[in-house]
Amino acid sequence: MKEDDHSALDGAHLDTLAIRAGVARTPEGEHAEPIFLTSSYVFENAAQAAARFSGESPGNVYSRYTNPTVRAFEQRLAALEGGEQAVGTASGMAAILSTCMALLKTGDHVVCSRDVFGTTVNLFSKVLARFGVAVTFVPLLDLDQWRAAIRPETAMLFVETPSNPLCEVADLAVLAGLARESGCLLVVDNCFCTPALQTPLALGADIVIHSATKYLDGQGRCVGGAAVGAREHMDEVLTFLRTCGPTMSAFNAWVFLKGLETLRLRMEAHSRSALELARWLREQPAVEKVFYAGLEDHPGHALAKRQQRAFGGVLSFRVRGGREQAWRCIDATRVMSLTANLGDARTTIVHPATTTHGRLSASERAEAGITENLIRVAVGLEHIDDLKADLLRGLQGPG
Ligand SMILES: Cc1ncc(COP(=O)(O)O)c(C=O)c1O
Repeated sequence: MKEDDHSALDGAHLDTLAIRAGVARTPEGEHAEPIFLTSSYVFENAAQAAARFSGESPGNVYSRYTNPTVRAFEQRLAALEGGEQAVGTASGMAAILSTCMALLKTGDHVVCSRDVFGTTVNLFSKVLARFGVAVTFVPLLDLDQWRAAIRPETAMLFVETPSNPLCEVADLAVLAGLARESGCLLVVDNCFCTPALQTPLALGADIVIHSATKYLDGQGRCVGGAAVGAREHMDEVLTFLRTCGPTMSAFNAWVFLKGLETLRLRMEAHSRSALELARWLREQPAVEKVFYAGLEDHPGHALAKRQQRAFGGVLSFRVRGGREQAWRCIDATRVMSLTANLGDARTTIVHPATTTHGRLSASERAEAGITENLIRVAVGLEHIDDLKADLLRGLQGPG
């Protein structure tokens, strides 16, 4: 493919788009994408400056508005998600906030899955509520409750699938139908699957959200996010971003660009190891139950098989006993990292009840199935035998 010959990518496969989309070579002829670490841009003359500022002619003005490295990331991610346009943001939360601030107004109502990321719950219930946006939380899989919660002023359905940490799977095509019938937008946080495994826009969703911090980076280095969707919506998100400022840094965009190049290979490897670990865990006497949609007896298995290209890297399991046994298991592991992050080449292990879901009340946790004996593992790219040996150490306890 010659430089800037984007028509060469018409109909290209995801693997090719992940490597080639968004490339715009400079006259230096560099092969890898450059990082444009510049806050502002110079103009050839005053007339050009005026035309750029007025929007009469396209081009860079200031990196809060546009940056070539961020643009390359946006174009590549949009190509992978099958969206018209992507907007890079400073974090995943900035992507959710910017989407909501751009597309909602006082008096609007949102129906949100109860099983989304905890900070997303807080964003809706504590921050947006102060600006007069109401929210109703519903159980991810209870379609009757989704339907019943929709009101004339409902402007958005917000969902994350598969859920964290129990891997429940929502039917995106059905939710998209509900959103269409009700005249509202379906927004899907696609952080756990990424476009390598699931493309919500193709199933009828309007907007995809990413925490690029996770699998898009893939090596736990940078915080960033993105929203992807139709140009009419993304233009609104961009307007918010340019005015309010939570833009993606050029350096982080470059890291994410490089991450996207290996995304499919990594997601397949994460998924393969997670499936093997889930099957192995199920056989361990100290394990009570394993939650992973790749297991045939998981309630979301058939849907996940239809809707996703693989089952992803996150699984959870309950050990026999309670918090003491779960903590003992976590503390005895020596290879896995005890951290709440995920989407890293390094496997991470965490106790959801006292960390990621610690702010929920005991009854909310019980309702969501976050028991004291539950452990979440985000399976990385280490050798599977070493991960099994590490967990075995954990399941047998110290000494
Ligand atoms: C599913 C999901 N969405 C959004 C976020 C927020 O992303 P960030 O930490 O990049 O703001 C996270 C972060 O952990 C997440 O797991």
